[in-house]
Amino acid sequence: MVPLDTFYRDHWVEVAEERHEVYEQVFAWSPELEPLIAPAGFGPDQVVVDYGCGPGQMCVELAKRVGPGGHVHAMDINEKFVRRTRERAQAEGLTDRITVHHMSDDRLPFEDGSIDRILCKNVLKYVDDPLASIQDCHRVLAPGGRLHVTDNDWGFYVFEPLSQARTAALISAASHAYKSPLLGRKLYGLCQTAGYSTIDLGILPTIDTDGQFAGVIRNIASYARAGGSLPEAEIDAVMAEVDAAIADGSYLFILPQFMVTATV
Ligand SMILES: C[S@@+](CC[C@H](N)C(=O)[O-])C[C@H]1O[C@@H](n2cnc3c(N)ncnc32)[C@H](O)[C@@H]1O
Repeated sequence: MVPLDTFYRDHWVEVAEERHEVYEQVFAWSPELEPLIAPAGFGPDQVVVDYGCGPGQMCVELAKRVGPGGHVHAMDINEKFVRRTRERAQAEGLTDRITVHHMSDDRLPFEDGSIDRILCKNVLKYVDDPLASIQDCHRVLAPGGRLHVTDNDWGFYVFEPLSQARTAALISAASHAYKSPLLGRKLYGLCQTAGYSTIDLGILPTIDTDGQFAGVIRNIASYARAGGSLPEAEIDAVMAEVDAAIADGSYLFILPQFMVTATV
């Protein structure tokens, strides 16, 4: 049995090889993601942090936006994501514009007031203390600099045709995979507590009708299996219901993304 009290972090430090392949697809940059990052206002000559960069597709996109006068710091706790990001930067001829950091704790290795933008896309629900991380972002941001955080909230979703009770039981059985499973609703208040001068909140629906994001629920199922509190047969039954719903067209998954843009 895996230790559950540190699982939220461990499952990113050690990512199974087959999940790496899935993440290459899931985290790919696509123009459809534009509404999710637009409020950050990325542009030429900025020094940007991609906090929790995954395999590095987003930071390549950010490096193109900051141009030759800017810089992107890509940060992650997973060694292979760090390696993939370095390989990507090299393949794109962007090594002079991208520095990749392998993080071992949640403190940002930057001087106070030295960063223009921080993107934290679906990362903060895994950190030890989201408020401390948001405060540390405030510390390193220059006056007028922006933190742009996006995250979901595991109390706020639609998953048809699964019953509410069945979905809730599965998510509860997987909750050890997140330090803060209900982070979405907390982000606005945490940024207020951290002292940002202006804070804008938006919500994007993220609607899946054909199984495009079924990988998210497969991950939840694998976390629930690791936890051991829900019988394997029930997890198998849920996944069979999901597959059947995708096949017969009755599937609908809505996982709203909270977006908070906080300016120093
Ligand atoms: C859900 S993925 C999001 C990846 C990417 N930001 C995106 O949205 O495509 C979460 C990422 O955060 C990283 N991560 C998790 N905990 C972290 C921590 N404490 N510090 C830095 N990165 C972390 C994981 O390794 C993973 O790459």
